[in-house]
Amino acid sequence: MSETHASKQIDHVMHEHRLFPPSKEFSNKARISTAEQYQEMYDRAKNDPDGFWGELGRNELHWFKPFDSVYERNGDVATWFGGGQTNLSYNCLDAQIAGGRGDRIAILWEGEPGETLTLTYTELHRQVCKFANVLKSLGINKGDVVSIYMPMTPELAIAMLACARIGAIHSVIFAGFSAEAIADRNQDARAKIQLTADGLWRRGKVLKLKDTVDQALLKSPTVQHCVVLKRIDRECSMQAGRDIWWHEAMESASADCPATPLDSEATSFILYTSGSTGKPKGIRHTTAGYNLWVKKTFEWVFDHRDSDIFWCTADCGWITGHSYVVYGPLSNGATVMMYEGAPNFPAEDRFWSIIERHKVTILYTAPTAIRAFIKWGDQHVDAHDLSSLRLLGTVGEGINPEAWMWYHRKIGGERCPIVDTWWQTETGGILMSPLPGVTATKPGSCTRPLPGVVPMIVDEELQPVEPNHGGMLCISQPWPGMLRGIWGDDERFHEQYWARVPNNYLTGDNARLDRDGYYWIMGRIDDVINVSGHRLSTIEVESALVSHPMVAEAAAVGRPDDIKGQAIAVFVSIKGSGSTAGLADELKAHVRKEIGALAVPDDIRFTSSLPKTRSGKIMRRLLRDIASGKAETSQDTSTLEDYTILAKLRSDEE
Ligand code: PRX
Repeated sequence: MSETHASKQIDHVMHEHRLFPPSKEFSNKARISTAEQYQEMYDRAKNDPDGFWGELGRNELHWFKPFDSVYERNGDVATWFGGGQTNLSYNCLDAQIAGGRGDRIAILWEGEPGETLTLTYTELHRQVCKFANVLKSLGINKGDVVSIYMPMTPELAIAMLACARIGAIHSVIFAGFSAEAIADRNQDARAKIQLTADGLWRRGKVLKLKDTVDQALLKSPTVQHCVVLKRIDRECSMQAGRDIWWHEAMESASADCPATPLDSEATSFILYTSGSTGKPKGIRHTTAGYNLWVKKTFEWVFDHRDSDIFWCTADCGWITGHSYVVYGPLSNGATVMMYEGAPNFPAEDRFWSIIERHKVTILYTAPTAIRAFIKWGDQHVDAHDLSSLRLLGTVGEGINPEAWMWYHRKIGGERCPIVDTWWQTETGGILMSPLPGVTATKPGSCTRPLPGVVPMIVDEELQPVEPNHGGMLCISQPWPGMLRGIWGDDERFHEQYWARVPNNYLTGDNARLDRDGYYWIMGRIDDVINVSGHRLSTIEVESALVSHPMVAEAAAVGRPDDIKGQAIAVFVSIKGSGSTAGLADELKAHVRKEIGALAVPDDIRFTSSLPKTRSGKIMRRLLRDIASGKAETSQDTSTLEDYTILAKLRSDEE
């Protein structure tokens, strides 16, 4: 390899050799249980997408009108199942009831204060039909945008499914965002109606959602009505003519609302996601392709069976909640656990208590939560019986191998496979993940692509990189669940995802393929640290730090350095409340031992917490500003969860 070529790639410095094959017992029962089975599916999807997806499309979804073509490349993206008509809500509800699952529990819900509620498929269907009629009575038609700002209660899923039933497009906004953020999204989407609640419970306190919405609606001129769920039974102002109580509207609504046949490519929802710069973008998903993707990926990755109680801890305000709390599980007739509140209320064992009491069998959560559990201490886990669990999953960020090991030992009792699922809001559903009955997992690797996913890794000159070198991760073939656009901004859509590597979807992540054919996500393209011409991935430096017994969490960023180009600055939070005296030197020595002198941090700062997005991702771009001594950040901070952290980090510096 030439010198210049090598410098365009990302160096791989982390060494992880542990391998965890699934147990015989797990494999024997799994739907996909051999590597040959996977390979056969994979090859067919790659070489004969028409045949593979055509067959699945026909068999797995209900068609009011059959499709004429499986897929057609259409500019940047492909369109799927053209000419056909189906309905997401029908596939999640009516099709399940028709299949004899009407009495199965669809949603098993627990509120933060402790109350529980179950809804069978038949009951959920009834509620969804009623609420769809409420929407219709308020003038909502096919193609109208419904803005949803609600707590994690069953009514949130009901609202989403009711929109899907009549072809209204939902835009769910996580109920932690500010009035400004809601108004921006409402304006961009031209939302016609707002759904909210009087409030929600969060760590024992009430968050007054309706007050925030009232502020937002001052700047949402297209919104004509606001439906308010009574969740906490507190007084809140109701504007005559505009605001309606959910329970009052539901009282008189008919439970008869046949699902509207919708074109395969009809927009099912938009979901705003923050770009690293500029205003949030409304990622647009479709009906048939999205439905098929979340249905099949749920089945493949979680190896779902009827006896499962599946708990995805994500909020429906994120894509993970859309795809794996609502549409994926329900279109498989699964029983979904849904929890309203915080993981540390009333105590740090809330998740484990939920798993024990509801006999959860599959837990799907985020690395940020896992690192918090580690920090809070094993005693919270030890107090509970987690033997109902059979499978674990992670999503949202790379998982540091040591956090993976803790999850494996402490939560999975060394018996549960872990599926580290890599995907994005844009991809609709999981693209890379172990198949739990087949794949021998490596801590920190999302392993292999699912059938239909054809990855390619290129360097800055768009040349394919060799195994074990990092580069930009692209996807070369269209898949049914991919985004079809950014709402109202075709140019940005093209620029962001298609312009740089022609005919390939650019993910924005860096990745490496190892010699066994396993993929390792190396962080965002913009986060690479360039030390003396060596391009390092954030996750590798962070994982080396997290492998030190005292470190709970770490974030690595580059800051300008006259000699090396960039120096490595790390922000570290430690477990418990021990002293950090002498720890900086110890950590430097530790990193030198783990990955070598090149990756030894120049600056180490200890902090009680790291700045994160509301969905739990570390915001490295803000840390970059702090590490380079900028007094103010030029970055968009609207998605930052806790503003005080930035101020604290800056003052620690002085
Ligand atoms: O950088 C990758 C990281 O999260 C990004 C997508 O974020 P978002 O659209 O919010 O969707 C999150 C839920 C799917 C990716 O570009 N990411 C997500 N999962 C993983 C990951 N990074 C490494 N490993 C993962 N398993």
